Amino acid sequence: MKKTILITGGAGFIGSHVVRRFVNEYPDYTIVNLDALTYAGNLENLKDIEEKPNYIFEKGDITDADFVEKLFQKYPFDGVIHLAAESHVDRSITDPLAFAKTNILGTMILLNAAKDSWKNNFEGKKFYHVSTDEVYGTLGETGLFTEETAYDPNSPYSASKASSDHFVRAYGETYGLPYVVSNCSNNYGPNHFPEKLIPLFINNIINEKPLPVYGDGNYTRDWLFVIDHARAIDLIFHQGKNKETYNIGGFNEWKNIDLVKELCQQMDEKLGREKGTSEKLITFVKDRPGHDLRYAIDATKINQELDWKPSVTFPEGLKKTIDWYFDNQDWLKNVTSGEYQDYYKKQYN
Ligand code: NAD
Ligand code: TYD
Repeated sequence: MKKTILITGGAGFIGSHVVRRFVNEYPDYTIVNLDALTYAGNLENLKDIEEKPNYIFEKGDITDADFVEKLFQKYPFDGVIHLAAESHVDRSITDPLAFAKTNILGTMILLNAAKDSWKNNFEGKKFYHVSTDEVYGTLGETGLFTEETAYDPNSPYSASKASSDHFVRAYGETYGLPYVVSNCSNNYGPNHFPEKLIPLFINNIINEKPLPVYGDGNYTRDWLFVIDHARAIDLIFHQGKNKETYNIGGFNEWKNIDLVKELCQQMDEKLGREKGTSEKLITFVKDRPGHDLRYAIDATKINQELDWKPSVTFPEGLKKTIDWYFDNQDWLKNVTSGEYQDYYKKQYN
């Protein structure tokens, strides 16, 4: 069936994998990628599909209500997959208002445009909000986040995402806008901007720079290969039930310090450096304020209802990721010049 779908944030890390999947898997769909191309957005991420006839790029800001309204007049959207966001916790600590603007106001502007343009005739329409498990706050040493876990965000980033999740639900309850939300654990893989743990450390190991581990490194994250997240988004968009939330996770918990050691070992092999070389770069630095101890997802619902589970094991995914950064050193050089250098100095010096 033909559909026109708006994907926001499609030039970013996860968004680019979602756009690629939809453009390739659904040649009958028209995929419109709306992205402001902030520091995190990069059209290089989509070079391989930019000429496809069912792909359109629109540069624009989701906080610009006029622009968004006109976009909904220009295209007959059947669905929205909303990923555009400010996404990095450390940046949210230094500039929380930017996160409120894009993540809360921007989401509301999209919701409003969808509601107005679909004129309360919501048959066949869907607004899919892509969110994070960080809205649930932190776990102790045991337990898992389920879809019933109460929201308890701790960082300005997670508070802004929690707020946007609530607005999506509010538009569903108040105006009848059909929606679905997913809350996913930490992603990793190709095209990941090197401000996040794994790509930052890959880049620093290549350049023999210190590896800044926050606090004692005894913080746990549940890592999922980005292509498995894109598969889950495809399933949820097509088969997810109206008004439902789906948790997506990797069944793959790692303490930061253990993950960093594993990464160091694989990088030494890849670089032909003596075993233990990269580990010497580990430097324990001042902790992140409000640092959540542990995230881990119970993905039973998506597993049982939509038959999804990760397809890539962590060793495979980490190897694919490392290989990608080695094969795309120009990409890495481009994104780590300019603004990145200022960010890095402020954050780590
Ligand atoms: P990212 O920072 O790599 O990409 C964000 C994209 O949004 C960029 O292309 C950027 O240019 C665009 N953007 C930012 N502000 C915009 C604006 N005002 N208007 C239009 N475009 C704008 O983020 P990501 O890691 O790919 O995350 C994508 C989504 O998935 C986010 O909503 C994030 O909260 C969510 N998420 C991320 C993770 C993760 O591990 N990275 C996990 C779960 C959920
Ligand atoms: P990050 O990749 O920023 O993702 P999130 O904060 O959304 O989980 O961080 C992952 C973990 O790694 C988190 O516990 C913070 C830690 N971390 C470091 O120890 N050093 C770093 O330089 C970064 C960026 C993160």
